Amino acid sequence: MDYKVADLGLADFGRTEIELAEHEMPGLMAMRERYGAAQPLKGARIAGSLHMTIQTAVLIETLVDLGADVRWATCNIFSTQDHAAAAVVVGRNGGTVENPSGVPVFAWKGETLAEYWDEAEKVFDFTDESGNSVGPNVLLDDGGDITMLVHLGVEFEKAGAVPAQDSTDNEEFKEVLRVLERSLANNPGRWTSIAAEIKGVTEETTTGVHRLYERFKEGSLLFPAINVNDSVTKSKFDNKYGCRHSLVDGINRATDVMIGGKVAVVCGYGDVGKGSAESLRGQGARVIVTEIDPICALQAAMDGYEVKRLESVVDKADIFVTTTGNFNIIRAEHFAQMKNQAIVGNIGHFDNEIDMAGLAKIPGIVKSEIKPQVHQWIFPDGKKIIVLSEGRLLNLGNATGHPSFVMSNSFTNQVLAQIEVFTKTEQYPVGVYVLPKHLDEEVARLHLDALGVELTELTQEQADYIGVEVSGPYKPEHYRY
Ligand code: NAI
Repeated sequence: MDYKVADLGLADFGRTEIELAEHEMPGLMAMRERYGAAQPLKGARIAGSLHMTIQTAVLIETLVDLGADVRWATCNIFSTQDHAAAAVVVGRNGGTVENPSGVPVFAWKGETLAEYWDEAEKVFDFTDESGNSVGPNVLLDDGGDITMLVHLGVEFEKAGAVPAQDSTDNEEFKEVLRVLERSLANNPGRWTSIAAEIKGVTEETTTGVHRLYERFKEGSLLFPAINVNDSVTKSKFDNKYGCRHSLVDGINRATDVMIGGKVAVVCGYGDVGKGSAESLRGQGARVIVTEIDPICALQAAMDGYEVKRLESVVDKADIFVTTTGNFNIIRAEHFAQMKNQAIVGNIGHFDNEIDMAGLAKIPGIVKSEIKPQVHQWIFPDGKKIIVLSEGRLLNLGNATGHPSFVMSNSFTNQVLAQIEVFTKTEQYPVGVYVLPKHLDEEVARLHLDALGVELTELTQEQADYIGVEVSGPYKPEHYRY
Protein backbone atom coordinates (compact mmCIF):
# COMPACT_ATOMS: atom_id res chain seq x y z
CA MET A 1 0.00 0.00 0.00
CA ASP A 2 1.41 3.41 -0.92
CA TYR A 3 0.91 6.44 1.29
CA LYS A 4 2.78 9.47 2.56
CA VAL A 5 2.04 10.85 6.01
CA ALA A 6 4.13 12.41 8.79
CA ASP A 7 4.29 9.58 11.31
CA LEU A 8 2.33 6.32 11.46
CA GLY A 9 3.25 6.15 15.15
CA LEU A 10 0.47 8.69 15.75
CA ALA A 11 -2.17 6.19 14.61
CA ASP A 12 -3.37 5.11 18.08
CA PHE A 13 -3.94 8.71 19.12
CA GLY A 14 -5.74 9.29 15.83
CA ARG A 15 -7.92 6.21 16.29
CA THR A 16 -8.97 7.32 19.79
CA GLU A 17 -10.00 10.73 18.46
CA ILE A 18 -11.78 9.17 15.48
CA GLU A 19 -13.82 7.04 17.89
CA LEU A 20 -14.74 10.14 19.90
CA ALA A 21 -15.69 11.94 16.69
CA GLU A 22 -17.90 9.04 15.53
CA HIS A 23 -20.12 9.65 18.55
CA GLU A 24 -20.49 13.29 17.47
CA MET A 25 -21.23 12.42 13.83
CA PRO A 26 -24.67 10.79 13.92
CA GLY A 27 -25.36 11.52 10.26
CA LEU A 28 -22.32 9.58 9.06
CA MET A 29 -23.03 6.73 11.49
CA ALA A 30 -26.60 6.55 10.14
CA MET A 31 -25.19 6.31 6.59
CA ARG A 32 -23.10 3.31 7.66
CA GLU A 33 -26.08 1.64 9.28
CA ARG A 34 -28.47 2.39 6.45
CA TYR A 35 -26.24 1.57 3.48
CA GLY A 36 -23.54 -0.71 4.91
CA ALA A 37 -25.24 -3.93 3.79
CA ALA A 38 -26.32 -2.67 0.35
CA GLN A 39 -22.81 -1.38 -0.54
CA PRO A 40 -24.00 1.34 -2.95
CA LEU A 41 -20.43 2.50 -3.53
CA LYS A 42 -19.10 -0.91 -4.51
CA GLY A 43 -17.01 -0.32 -7.61
CA ALA A 44 -16.54 3.37 -6.82
CA ARG A 45 -12.93 4.54 -6.95
CA ILE A 46 -13.05 7.85 -5.10
CA ALA A 47 -10.19 10.32 -5.41
CA GLY A 48 -10.56 12.74 -2.49
CA SER A 49 -8.97 16.11 -1.84
CA LEU A 50 -10.23 17.60 1.39
CA HIS A 51 -8.59 18.71 4.68
CA MET A 52 -7.22 15.50 6.24
CA THR A 53 -8.71 15.96 9.71
CA ILE A 54 -10.28 13.63 12.27
CA GLN A 55 -13.73 14.45 10.87
CA THR A 56 -12.57 13.63 7.35
CA ALA A 57 -11.24 10.31 8.66
CA VAL A 58 -14.80 9.43 9.70
CA LEU A 59 -16.02 10.44 6.23
CA ILE A 60 -13.35 8.34 4.47
CA GLU A 61 -14.12 5.27 6.57
CA THR A 62 -17.86 5.74 5.92
CA LEU A 63 -17.20 5.75 2.15
CA VAL A 64 -15.14 2.57 2.57
CA ASP A 65 -17.92 0.95 4.62
CA LEU A 66 -20.31 1.68 1.74
CA GLY A 67 -18.03 -0.26 -0.60
CA ALA A 68 -15.73 2.39 -2.09
CA ASP A 69 -12.04 2.18 -2.88
CA VAL A 70 -10.58 5.53 -1.73
CA ARG A 71 -7.34 7.52 -2.14
CA TRP A 72 -6.93 10.82 -0.31
CA ALA A 73 -4.91 14.02 -0.28
CA THR A 74 -5.46 17.24 1.60
CA CYS A 75 -6.71 20.44 -0.02
CA ASN A 76 -4.53 22.75 2.07
CA ILE A 77 -0.84 22.59 3.00
CA PHE A 78 -1.41 23.42 6.69
CA SER A 79 -4.70 21.73 7.57
CA THR A 80 -3.72 18.07 7.98
CA GLN A 81 -4.00 16.52 11.43
CA ASP A 82 -1.12 14.09 11.30
CA HIS A 83 -2.67 11.65 13.79
CA ALA A 84 -5.84 11.48 11.67
CA ALA A 85 -3.82 10.76 8.53
CA ALA A 86 -1.83 8.05 10.34
CA ALA A 87 -4.93 6.33 11.71
CA VAL A 88 -6.63 6.24 8.31
CA VAL A 89 -3.54 4.67 6.73
CA VAL A 90 -3.10 2.07 9.48
CA GLY A 91 -6.81 1.25 9.23
CA ARG A 92 -9.30 -0.50 11.48
CA ASN A 93 -9.19 -4.15 10.54
CA GLY A 94 -5.99 -5.54 11.94
CA GLY A 95 -3.75 -2.98 10.27
CA THR A 96 -0.55 -2.13 12.12
CA VAL A 97 2.15 0.48 11.82
CA GLU A 98 4.39 -2.19 10.26
CA ASN A 99 1.66 -3.51 8.02
CA PRO A 100 -0.96 -0.83 7.40
CA SER A 101 -4.21 -1.91 5.79
CA GLY A 102 -6.34 1.23 5.67
CA VAL A 103 -6.69 3.89 2.99
CA PRO A 104 -3.79 5.47 1.06
CA VAL A 105 -3.44 9.04 2.33
CA PHE A 106 -0.98 11.60 0.97
CA ALA A 107 -0.99 14.46 3.45
CA TRP A 108 0.95 16.00 6.32
CA LYS A 109 0.86 19.32 8.12
CA GLY A 110 3.26 21.81 6.59
CA GLU A 111 3.66 20.57 3.02
CA THR A 112 5.46 22.78 0.53
CA LEU A 113 3.48 23.82 -2.53
CA ALA A 114 5.57 21.45 -4.65
CA GLU A 115 4.79 18.57 -2.31
CA TYR A 116 1.11 19.52 -2.24
CA TRP A 117 0.73 19.20 -6.02
CA ASP A 118 2.86 16.04 -6.21
CA GLU A 119 0.62 14.39 -3.60
CA ALA A 120 -2.58 15.69 -5.24
CA GLU A 121 -1.62 13.82 -8.39
CA LYS A 122 -1.27 10.54 -6.46
CA VAL A 123 -4.99 10.28 -5.68
CA PHE A 124 -5.49 9.42 -9.36
CA ASP A 125 -3.33 6.25 -9.20
CA PHE A 126 -5.76 3.40 -8.52
CA THR A 127 -5.15 -0.26 -9.21
CA ASP A 128 -8.01 -2.49 -10.31
CA GLU A 129 -8.66 -6.06 -9.14
CA SER A 130 -6.37 -7.49 -11.81
CA GLY A 131 -3.54 -5.20 -10.77
CA ASN A 132 -3.86 -2.76 -13.69
CA SER A 133 -3.40 0.98 -13.24
CA VAL A 134 -6.71 2.79 -13.48
CA GLY A 135 -7.99 6.23 -12.62
CA PRO A 136 -10.78 7.17 -10.23
CA ASN A 137 -14.40 7.12 -11.34
CA VAL A 138 -15.62 9.73 -8.85
CA LEU A 139 -13.96 12.81 -7.34
CA LEU A 140 -14.66 14.33 -3.94
CA ASP A 141 -13.17 17.81 -3.92
CA ASP A 142 -12.88 20.81 -1.61
CA GLY A 143 -11.98 24.00 -3.45
CA GLY A 144 -11.70 22.34 -6.84
CA ASP A 145 -7.97 21.63 -7.04
CA ILE A 146 -8.15 18.03 -8.25
CA THR A 147 -11.06 18.90 -10.52
CA MET A 148 -8.85 21.60 -12.01
CA LEU A 149 -5.96 19.16 -12.42
CA VAL A 150 -8.11 16.87 -14.58
CA HIS A 151 -9.54 19.74 -16.64
CA LEU A 152 -6.17 21.36 -17.28
CA GLY A 153 -4.59 17.98 -17.99
CA VAL A 154 -7.18 17.32 -20.69
CA GLU A 155 -6.82 20.85 -22.11
CA PHE A 156 -3.04 20.61 -22.31
CA GLU A 157 -3.22 17.14 -23.85
CA LYS A 158 -5.53 18.48 -26.51
CA ALA A 159 -3.16 21.38 -27.14
CA GLY A 160 -0.21 18.97 -27.13
CA ALA A 161 1.78 21.08 -24.67
CA VAL A 162 1.82 22.60 -21.20
CA PRO A 163 2.42 26.38 -20.99
CA ALA A 164 5.93 27.27 -19.79
CA GLN A 165 6.23 27.71 -16.03
CA ASP A 166 7.61 31.21 -16.48
CA SER A 167 4.38 32.17 -18.28
CA THR A 168 2.92 32.84 -14.82
CA ASP A 169 4.18 34.68 -11.73
CA ASN A 170 1.80 32.68 -9.54
CA GLU A 171 4.10 30.37 -7.54
CA GLU A 172 1.37 27.83 -6.92
CA PHE A 173 0.30 27.65 -10.55
CA LYS A 174 3.92 27.02 -11.52
CA GLU A 175 3.72 23.80 -9.48
CA VAL A 176 0.51 22.80 -11.27
CA LEU A 177 2.24 23.31 -14.61
CA ARG A 178 5.29 21.36 -13.44
CA VAL A 179 3.18 18.37 -12.38
CA LEU A 180 1.18 18.39 -15.62
CA GLU A 181 4.28 18.80 -17.77
CA ARG A 182 5.84 15.72 -16.15
CA SER A 183 2.62 13.81 -16.58
CA LEU A 184 2.31 14.73 -20.26
CA ALA A 185 5.90 13.65 -20.87
CA ASN A 186 5.56 10.30 -19.06
CA ASN A 187 2.01 9.39 -19.89
CA PRO A 188 0.47 11.37 -22.74
CA GLY A 189 -3.31 10.91 -22.93
CA ARG A 190 -3.53 10.00 -19.27
CA TRP A 191 -5.84 12.84 -18.23
CA THR A 192 -8.12 12.36 -21.21
CA SER A 193 -8.68 8.73 -20.29
CA ILE A 194 -9.07 9.60 -16.60
CA ALA A 195 -11.70 12.24 -17.43
CA ALA A 196 -13.64 9.78 -19.60
CA GLU A 197 -14.04 7.44 -16.62
CA ILE A 198 -15.18 10.07 -14.12
CA LYS A 199 -18.90 9.90 -13.42
CA GLY A 200 -18.84 13.14 -11.48
CA VAL A 201 -17.45 15.24 -8.67
CA THR A 202 -19.02 16.26 -5.38
CA GLU A 203 -17.70 19.66 -4.34
CA GLU A 204 -17.53 20.80 -0.73
CA THR A 205 -17.01 24.54 -0.68
CA THR A 206 -18.20 27.92 -2.02
CA THR A 207 -14.97 28.62 -3.89
CA GLY A 208 -14.91 25.21 -5.61
CA VAL A 209 -18.57 25.51 -6.53
CA HIS A 210 -17.89 28.93 -8.01
CA ARG A 211 -15.19 27.42 -10.23
CA LEU A 212 -17.60 24.66 -11.37
CA TYR A 213 -20.37 27.08 -12.37
CA GLU A 214 -17.82 29.14 -14.31
CA ARG A 215 -16.66 26.07 -16.23
CA PHE A 216 -20.23 25.00 -16.90
CA LYS A 217 -21.09 28.49 -18.16
CA GLU A 218 -18.14 28.58 -20.55
CA GLY A 219 -18.96 25.04 -21.73
CA SER A 220 -15.74 23.43 -20.51
CA LEU A 221 -17.07 21.28 -17.66
CA LEU A 222 -16.19 17.65 -18.44
CA PHE A 223 -18.45 15.74 -16.03
CA PRO A 224 -21.45 16.38 -13.75
CA ALA A 225 -20.91 18.01 -10.40
CA ILE A 226 -22.93 18.00 -7.22
CA ASN A 227 -22.71 21.26 -5.33
CA VAL A 228 -22.64 20.00 -1.75
CA ASN A 229 -21.92 23.48 -0.41
CA ASP A 230 -25.38 24.74 -1.25
CA SER A 231 -27.24 22.06 0.60
CA VAL A 232 -28.81 24.12 3.35
CA THR A 233 -27.45 21.68 5.92
CA LYS A 234 -23.95 22.47 4.61
CA SER A 235 -23.48 26.18 3.96
CA LYS A 236 -25.95 27.44 6.55
CA PHE A 237 -24.32 25.24 9.21
CA ASP A 238 -20.66 24.44 8.45
CA ASN A 239 -19.82 27.82 6.93
CA LYS A 240 -21.68 29.70 9.65
CA TYR A 241 -21.72 27.74 12.91
CA GLY A 242 -18.49 25.94 12.04
CA CYS A 243 -16.63 29.23 11.63
CA ARG A 244 -18.33 30.61 14.73
CA HIS A 245 -16.52 27.83 16.60
CA SER A 246 -13.23 27.57 14.78
CA LEU A 247 -12.35 31.20 13.97
CA VAL A 248 -11.63 32.29 17.56
CA ASP A 249 -10.16 28.86 18.22
CA GLY A 250 -7.55 29.61 15.54
CA ILE A 251 -6.84 33.14 16.78
CA ASN A 252 -6.53 31.92 20.36
CA ARG A 253 -4.20 29.03 19.61
CA ALA A 254 -2.07 31.25 17.40
CA THR A 255 -1.80 34.33 19.58
CA ASP A 256 -3.57 33.93 22.94
CA VAL A 257 -4.48 37.57 22.60
CA MET A 258 -7.41 38.88 24.64
CA ILE A 259 -10.14 39.34 22.03
CA GLY A 260 -12.63 41.08 24.35
CA GLY A 261 -12.56 44.85 23.91
CA LYS A 262 -10.49 44.74 20.73
CA VAL A 263 -11.70 46.15 17.43
CA ALA A 264 -12.05 43.39 14.85
CA VAL A 265 -12.79 43.82 11.15
CA VAL A 266 -14.54 41.00 9.27
CA CYS A 267 -14.33 41.43 5.49
CA GLY A 268 -17.39 39.82 3.90
CA TYR A 269 -20.75 39.02 5.53
CA GLY A 270 -21.81 35.88 3.68
CA ASP A 271 -22.21 32.58 5.54
CA VAL A 272 -18.60 32.44 6.73
CA GLY A 273 -18.60 36.16 7.56
CA LYS A 274 -21.78 35.83 9.63
CA GLY A 275 -20.28 33.01 11.69
CA SER A 276 -16.94 34.80 12.02
CA ALA A 277 -18.47 38.10 13.15
CA GLU A 278 -20.57 36.30 15.74
CA SER A 279 -17.54 34.37 16.90
CA LEU A 280 -15.58 37.56 17.58
CA ARG A 281 -18.55 39.37 19.11
CA GLY A 282 -19.07 36.37 21.39
CA GLN A 283 -15.62 37.06 22.82
CA GLY A 284 -16.50 40.70 23.40
CA ALA A 285 -14.74 42.19 20.38
CA ARG A 286 -16.20 45.33 18.82
CA VAL A 287 -16.80 44.04 15.30
CA ILE A 288 -16.83 46.05 12.09
CA VAL A 289 -17.95 44.44 8.83
CA THR A 290 -16.99 45.34 5.25
CA GLU A 291 -19.23 44.30 2.34
CA ILE A 292 -19.78 45.01 -1.35
CA ASP A 293 -23.30 43.57 -1.47
CA PRO A 294 -25.97 45.98 -0.18
CA ILE A 295 -28.14 43.12 1.06
CA CYS A 296 -25.37 41.60 3.16
CA ALA A 297 -24.27 45.07 4.31
CA LEU A 298 -27.81 45.79 5.48
CA GLN A 299 -27.98 42.41 7.20
CA ALA A 300 -24.76 43.18 9.05
CA ALA A 301 -26.02 46.60 10.10
CA MET A 302 -29.31 45.16 11.33
CA ASP A 303 -27.44 42.42 13.19
CA GLY A 304 -25.82 45.28 15.08
CA TYR A 305 -22.41 45.60 13.42
CA GLU A 306 -20.86 48.77 12.11
CA VAL A 307 -20.37 48.50 8.36
CA LYS A 308 -17.44 50.49 7.01
CA ARG A 309 -14.92 50.51 4.21
CA LEU A 310 -11.63 48.90 5.14
CA GLU A 311 -9.83 52.18 4.39
CA SER A 312 -11.89 54.01 7.06
CA VAL A 313 -10.95 51.66 9.89
CA VAL A 314 -7.69 50.03 8.92
CA ASP A 315 -5.64 52.20 11.32
CA LYS A 316 -7.99 51.58 14.25
CA ALA A 317 -8.53 47.82 14.28
CA ASP A 318 -6.61 45.15 16.16
CA ILE A 319 -7.77 42.02 14.31
CA PHE A 320 -8.57 41.56 10.60
CA VAL A 321 -10.28 38.49 9.14
CA THR A 322 -11.09 37.97 5.45
CA THR A 323 -14.08 35.74 4.61
CA THR A 324 -14.93 36.81 1.04
CA GLY A 325 -13.76 34.04 -1.31
CA ASN A 326 -12.55 37.01 -3.37
CA PHE A 327 -8.95 38.16 -3.87
CA ASN A 328 -6.78 41.16 -2.96
CA ILE A 329 -8.97 42.21 -0.03
CA ILE A 330 -6.13 43.22 2.32
CA ARG A 331 -3.25 44.76 0.37
CA ALA A 332 0.15 46.30 1.02
CA GLU A 333 -1.31 49.79 1.43
CA HIS A 334 -3.58 48.48 4.20
CA PHE A 335 -0.71 46.75 6.02
CA ALA A 336 1.20 50.03 5.92
CA GLN A 337 -1.57 51.79 7.85
CA MET A 338 -2.28 49.09 10.44
CA LYS A 339 -1.48 49.47 14.14
CA ASN A 340 1.54 47.81 15.68
CA GLN A 341 0.83 44.13 16.40
CA ALA A 342 -2.37 44.05 14.42
CA ILE A 343 -3.37 40.43 13.75
CA VAL A 344 -4.31 39.50 10.18
CA GLY A 345 -5.84 36.21 9.09
CA ASN A 346 -7.99 34.67 6.40
CA ILE A 347 -10.74 32.07 6.74
CA GLY A 348 -11.79 32.04 3.04
CA HIS A 349 -10.62 29.15 0.89
CA PHE A 350 -7.54 30.57 -0.85
CA ASP A 351 -4.61 32.61 0.46
CA ASN A 352 -4.97 35.36 -2.14
CA GLU A 353 -7.60 37.22 -0.08
CA ILE A 354 -4.58 38.71 1.62
CA ASP A 355 -1.96 40.00 -0.79
CA MET A 356 0.97 38.13 0.78
CA ALA A 357 3.15 38.77 -2.27
CA GLY A 358 2.53 42.52 -1.92
CA LEU A 359 3.38 42.36 1.79
CA ALA A 360 6.67 40.64 1.08
CA LYS A 361 7.57 43.36 -1.43
CA ILE A 362 7.24 46.27 1.04
CA PRO A 363 10.76 47.80 1.07
CA GLY A 364 12.78 46.76 4.11
CA ILE A 365 10.12 44.42 5.56
CA VAL A 366 11.38 41.32 7.39
CA LYS A 367 9.41 38.12 8.05
CA SER A 368 10.16 36.29 11.27
CA GLU A 369 8.59 33.07 12.55
CA ILE A 370 7.10 33.13 16.04
CA LYS A 371 6.01 29.49 15.72
CA PRO A 372 4.79 27.39 12.80
CA GLN A 373 1.87 29.13 11.05
CA VAL A 374 2.39 32.35 13.06
CA HIS A 375 4.69 35.03 11.65
CA GLN A 376 5.46 38.61 12.39
CA TRP A 377 6.27 40.96 9.57
CA ILE A 378 8.54 43.70 10.85
CA PHE A 379 8.53 47.08 9.09
CA PRO A 380 11.74 49.17 8.92
CA ASP A 381 10.36 51.46 11.68
CA GLY A 382 9.88 48.47 13.99
CA LYS A 383 6.11 48.11 13.55
CA LYS A 384 5.01 44.49 13.57
CA ILE A 385 2.04 42.83 11.90
CA ILE A 386 1.12 39.27 12.92
CA VAL A 387 -0.05 37.10 10.02
CA LEU A 388 -1.69 33.73 10.68
CA SER A 389 -1.12 30.62 8.53
CA GLU A 390 0.67 32.69 5.89
CA GLY A 391 -2.73 33.93 4.73
CA ARG A 392 -4.25 30.45 4.36
CA LEU A 393 -7.39 29.44 6.18
CA LEU A 394 -6.51 30.06 9.79
CA ASN A 395 -9.17 27.94 11.43
CA LEU A 396 -7.56 24.84 9.92
CA GLY A 397 -3.95 26.09 9.92
CA ASN A 398 -3.87 27.42 13.48
CA ALA A 399 -6.57 25.21 15.01
CA THR A 400 -8.31 21.98 14.04
CA GLY A 401 -11.13 23.32 11.87
CA HIS A 402 -14.79 22.80 12.54
CA PRO A 403 -15.98 20.39 15.23
CA SER A 404 -17.33 16.95 14.39
CA PHE A 405 -21.03 17.60 14.90
CA VAL A 406 -21.28 20.32 12.27
CA MET A 407 -19.03 18.39 9.87
CA SER A 408 -21.36 15.42 10.23
CA ASN A 409 -23.99 17.54 8.46
CA SER A 410 -21.60 18.52 5.66
CA PHE A 411 -20.21 15.04 5.20
CA THR A 412 -23.57 13.28 5.28
CA ASN A 413 -24.38 15.47 2.28
CA GLN A 414 -21.09 14.37 0.73
CA VAL A 415 -21.94 10.68 1.19
CA LEU A 416 -25.43 11.15 -0.26
CA ALA A 417 -23.96 13.12 -3.17
CA GLN A 418 -21.40 10.38 -3.87
CA ILE A 419 -24.17 7.76 -3.90
CA GLU A 420 -26.27 9.95 -6.23
CA VAL A 421 -23.56 10.60 -8.75
CA PHE A 422 -22.18 7.06 -8.67
CA THR A 423 -25.44 5.10 -8.77
CA LYS A 424 -27.69 7.44 -10.77
CA THR A 425 -25.15 8.70 -13.27
CA GLU A 426 -27.64 8.75 -16.15
CA GLN A 427 -29.87 11.18 -14.22
CA TYR A 428 -27.05 13.72 -14.14
CA PRO A 429 -25.99 15.00 -17.56
CA VAL A 430 -22.99 17.37 -17.41
CA GLY A 431 -24.07 20.26 -15.19
CA VAL A 432 -23.94 21.44 -11.59
CA TYR A 433 -26.66 20.17 -9.24
CA VAL A 434 -27.71 20.53 -5.64
CA LEU A 435 -29.12 17.57 -3.76
CA PRO A 436 -32.93 17.39 -3.64
CA LYS A 437 -34.54 19.09 -0.66
CA HIS A 438 -35.88 15.90 0.88
CA LEU A 439 -32.28 14.72 1.32
CA ASP A 440 -31.31 18.07 2.86
CA GLU A 441 -34.16 17.73 5.34
CA GLU A 442 -33.11 14.16 6.00
CA VAL A 443 -29.57 15.26 6.90
CA ALA A 444 -30.99 17.71 9.43
CA ARG A 445 -33.37 15.09 10.79
CA LEU A 446 -30.47 12.72 11.47
CA HIS A 447 -28.91 15.31 13.79
CA LEU A 448 -31.93 16.21 15.92
CA ASP A 449 -31.98 13.36 18.43
CA ALA A 450 -28.42 14.03 19.52
CA LEU A 451 -29.49 17.50 20.60
CA GLY A 452 -32.72 16.41 22.24
CA VAL A 453 -34.80 18.29 19.69
CA GLU A 454 -38.53 17.58 19.73
CA LEU A 455 -39.76 18.14 16.20
CA THR A 456 -43.42 19.08 15.87
CA GLU A 457 -45.36 16.94 13.40
CA LEU A 458 -47.82 18.46 11.00
CA THR A 459 -51.37 17.17 11.09
CA GLN A 460 -52.76 16.17 7.70
CA GLU A 461 -55.09 19.19 7.84
CA GLN A 462 -52.20 21.56 8.56
CA ALA A 463 -50.14 20.01 5.77
CA ASP A 464 -53.03 20.47 3.35
CA TYR A 465 -53.53 24.05 4.51
CA ILE A 466 -49.92 25.08 3.73
CA GLY A 467 -49.74 22.82 0.69
CA VAL A 468 -47.00 20.35 1.67
CA GLU A 469 -46.79 16.64 2.44
CA VAL A 470 -46.73 15.63 6.12
CA SER A 471 -43.34 14.02 5.45
CA GLY A 472 -41.93 17.07 3.61
CA PRO A 473 -40.31 18.74 1.78
CA TYR A 474 -41.57 21.66 3.82
CA LYS A 475 -40.29 24.62 1.81
CA PRO A 476 -40.27 25.64 -1.85
CA GLU A 477 -36.93 25.62 -3.68
CA HIS A 478 -36.65 29.41 -3.49
CA TYR A 479 -36.93 29.52 0.30
CA ARG A 480 -33.71 30.94 1.78
CA TYR A 481 -33.66 29.89 5.46
P1 NAI B 1 -20.49 33.90 0.48
O1 NAI B 1 -20.57 34.14 -0.96
O2 NAI B 1 -21.71 33.51 1.26
O3 NAI B 1 -19.85 35.16 1.22
C1 NAI B 1 -18.81 35.94 0.75
C2 NAI B 1 -19.20 37.39 0.99
O4 NAI B 1 -18.08 38.24 0.71
C3 NAI B 1 -20.34 37.85 0.09
O5 NAI B 1 -21.41 38.36 0.88
C4 NAI B 1 -19.72 38.92 -0.79
O6 NAI B 1 -20.62 39.95 -1.13
C5 NAI B 1 -18.57 39.41 0.08
N1 NAI B 1 -17.49 40.07 -0.67
C6 NAI B 1 -17.00 39.77 -1.90
N2 NAI B 1 -16.01 40.62 -2.24
C7 NAI B 1 -15.87 41.48 -1.20
C8 NAI B 1 -15.01 42.57 -0.95
N3 NAI B 1 -14.13 43.00 -1.84
N4 NAI B 1 -15.12 43.22 0.25
C9 NAI B 1 -16.04 42.83 1.17
N5 NAI B 1 -16.89 41.80 0.98
C10 NAI B 1 -16.80 41.13 -0.19
O7 NAI B 1 -19.38 32.75 0.67
P2 NAI B 1 -19.11 31.87 2.00
O8 NAI B 1 -19.87 30.61 1.92
O9 NAI B 1 -19.24 32.75 3.17
O10 NAI B 1 -17.58 31.48 1.76
C11 NAI B 1 -16.54 32.43 1.79
C12 NAI B 1 -15.20 31.72 1.62
O11 NAI B 1 -14.96 30.86 2.73
C13 NAI B 1 -15.11 30.83 0.39
O12 NAI B 1 -13.81 30.90 -0.12
C14 NAI B 1 -15.38 29.45 0.95
O13 NAI B 1 -14.89 28.44 0.12
C15 NAI B 1 -14.67 29.53 2.28
N6 NAI B 1 -15.10 28.63 3.34
C16 NAI B 1 -14.20 28.43 4.35
C17 NAI B 1 -14.50 27.62 5.42
C18 NAI B 1 -13.51 27.40 6.49
O14 NAI B 1 -13.70 26.50 7.31
N7 NAI B 1 -12.45 28.16 6.58
C19 NAI B 1 -15.81 26.95 5.53
C20 NAI B 1 -16.70 27.26 4.43
C21 NAI B 1 -16.35 28.07 3.39
